[in-house]
Amino acid sequence: MKDFEYIALRLKNNTLFVLDQRRLPQKEVWIKVHNPDEMGECILKLCVRGAPLIAIAGICSLALFANSGVDKSTLKEAAEKLKATRPTAINLKKAVDYVMAGDPNPNEITQRTEELIKKEIKMCEDIAHLGTDLIKEEEFLITYCNTGSLATPGIGTAFGVIRKAHQEGKNINVYVMETRPLLQGARLTTWELKKENIPYTLICDNMVASLMSSGKIHKVLVGADRIAINGDVANKIGTYGLAIQAHYHNVPFYVVAPQSTVDFSCEKGANIPIEQRPISEIEGLSFKKERWAPENNQSFNPAFDITPVSLITGFILNTGVYTRKEIQSGTLKYLY
Ligand code: MRU
Repeated sequence: MKDFEYIALRLKNNTLFVLDQRRLPQKEVWIKVHNPDEMGECILKLCVRGAPLIAIAGICSLALFANSGVDKSTLKEAAEKLKATRPTAINLKKAVDYVMAGDPNPNEITQRTEELIKKEIKMCEDIAHLGTDLIKEEEFLITYCNTGSLATPGIGTAFGVIRKAHQEGKNINVYVMETRPLLQGARLTTWELKKENIPYTLICDNMVASLMSSGKIHKVLVGADRIAINGDVANKIGTYGLAIQAHYHNVPFYVVAPQSTVDFSCEKGANIPIEQRPISEIEGLSFKKERWAPENNQSFNPAFDITPVSLITGFILNTGVYTRKEIQSGTLKYLY
């Protein structure tokens, strides 16, 4: 495979590295990943995260494994194991199925992997190009979780639109929700916004309603981990609550995603599996190894929730900007 260097994923002389996102923003630590099993561990622990990026990181590790001379059944087993690491985001499953379809040789797997990386980068560019037209001068936006170059191999999805609007000189301001429990907003989105000199304000997740009631927010832009054919969207836990608050306050709520996030075999949101994560993430143990809750709590830590299409104003995809009505009348199935 040809060498590449993205913000959170690198390939140098057939050695793959991921930027350990658990350490950001304090430290930029790169982890050498030797095989799909190790990549699976990195994905599970959220060293590498974000639906499009885990797909690309996963298939890169598979392509290198295929070229290392392993037999076909070992490769297939590794592919199946990878797909199971994070069950809600659909991109990884789709990418692995694509590169492994029809008994391919290592060369074909490499070619398909390189093709998907190029496509994913281009889709981010197209999304930003289309989405920026919706953003007006001096707008205040809310974004959630992290949807930038730490979550894709390109310029990002919702973040890509923000980046483009800023580059066009629209003088926007971004309210960044911290994103409990793992703080992707507070740690990662702020890190990316700072690098780009985009003005932002960091808020706790529970400050949104009061902020919206002040009439200061013009739009909400979020990413997606899986979009069902009827337009229901799985995204980071808390997205549903954010959509309800936007609906109540008449703030337009946009989902921003590439085609690779649409699950053409999933009819509705209720059919999307929700990843459950360890309760230690809520208790404080994930970061400083310091517990802030008492021991032996019951476990409920879903990583994602489903926002029904009825709460979504519009979809900014790489193929176009669609209204809720267009999506509800079945537009997504024609994108296949
Ligand atoms: O658990 P994470 O950090 O992988 O969750 C990421 C998100 O929910 C993002 O919003 C989503 O993957 C879209 S990223 C372009």
